[in-house]
Amino acid sequence: MTKSSGMSQRTSNGLHAAIIMDGNGRWASARGLPRVAGHRAGAEALRRAVEAAPDLGIGVLTVYAFSSDNWRRPQPEVSALMKMFHIYLRREQAKCVEKGVRVSVIGRRDRLPRLLLPVIDECVSATAQGGKLNLRLAIDYSSRDAILDAALALKGKPTREKLSEALGGPDVDVLIRTGGEQRLSDFLLWECAYAELIFTPVMWPDFKASDLASAVGEFHSRERRFGALPRAALA
Ligand code: IPE
Ligand code: IPE
Ligand code: MG
Repeated sequence: MTKSSGMSQRTSNGLHAAIIMDGNGRWASARGLPRVAGHRAGAEALRRAVEAAPDLGIGVLTVYAFSSDNWRRPQPEVSALMKMFHIYLRREQAKCVEKGVRVSVIGRRDRLPRLLLPVIDECVSATAQGGKLNLRLAIDYSSRDAILDAALALKGKPTREKLSEALGGPDVDVLIRTGGEQRLSDFLLWECAYAELIFTPVMWPDFKASDLASAVGEFHSRERRFGALPRAALA
């Protein structure tokens, strides 16, 4: 048995929670609103989740904001989303600094609007000292691409540890997907090897701090075995 087999890389500073924030469009359509209104309401839901996360023992929160496959959506929706990222990062920066939230962004940069890049850089550097929560925004993110890029950049003999490190984030403890679909849609495939998966029918704009608390509670109620036997069987 190798040292690395199956074990989770736990961060010293709390849980790594990952969220696939899905259901914005359906939330809006159900109210006779344009899809963009759902994305706007979704930004508020993210604000609530970020605020609630530290007290729930979450140290790293990675959220899926835009997948590399989302470029396939109609151009006006894509533009509206890019504009929203711009506004969100600008608007939330001061609050993140105040609350100790360190913002990072994962995914490709080369296809993002040119004007978004300095806004990302400014937010990342302004919040770099935040020690309460690392908020990782996945924008133009594809896990398959991330794994490929990380693997290609490895030096020497490839190992699990080196690849995990190259991917830049710890293993996921709990993955939540809102909106009722039960799939990963190319999100954190490597990091979720032993994640507890929680699928909820709640549409992302309706997701409250109490829903995040329930998900964390559900996570704690599960027994993670990493391939070993249940604790009861080992006693
Ligand atoms: C998730 O909500 C947000 C993004 C993908 C950017 P959707 O826009 O996928 O909403 P639904 O799934 O169509 O309801
Ligand atoms: C995944 O949701 C991407 C984000 C939430 C950003 P999608 O709505 O794009 O995924 P599919 O198409 O249902 O798999
Ligand atoms: Mg969707």
